[in-house]
Amino acid sequence: MAVSLEPVVKVSDHLKDLLNKAIAREIQVSIQYMWQHVQVMGVKAVAVQDKFKSTAIAEMKHAEKIAERLWYLGGGPTTKPAVIDVEKTLKEFLEFDTKAEVEAIEMYREIIDLANKEKDVTTAFIFKEILEDEEEHHDLFTTMLEEV
Ligand SMILES: [Fe+2]
Ligand SMILES: [Fe+2]
Repeated sequence: MAVSLEPVVKVSDHLKDLLNKAIAREIQVSIQYMWQHVQVMGVKAVAVQDKFKSTAIAEMKHAEKIAERLWYLGGGPTTKPAVIDVEKTLKEFLEFDTKAEVEAIEMYREIIDLANKEKDVTTAFIFKEILEDEEEHHDLFTTMLEEV
């Protein structure tokens, strides 16, 4: 019996491109938050340092999760981050981080919609879980912004 080695789930190149853009931005924010964790200074740093670290780790796990999915779908995950904005002050950190999270939320909604249209339920499910994290990060950064 000949068994097909083709992927069971076939998706458009457009969806694969979006997954790669998502990976690029997950790598970006993972480095961005890690460097902010290292560079944050002053009295307020004590309160926020660990948050940058734990969020950076969460973003790295997202990158890995999306890369695994893209690989399964027959795509090659990028190794290049999107533009990293570390900036100087804590307020600037948080403004750029909030912007990054808004971009993620918008992009991941688009991916969920497209994945559903293409009947790729698993990708939609993975991104729903990731989206929940990004909304938490957005809430975290905007809350922190109120205090700086
Ligand atoms: Fe993420
Ligand atoms: Fe995030």
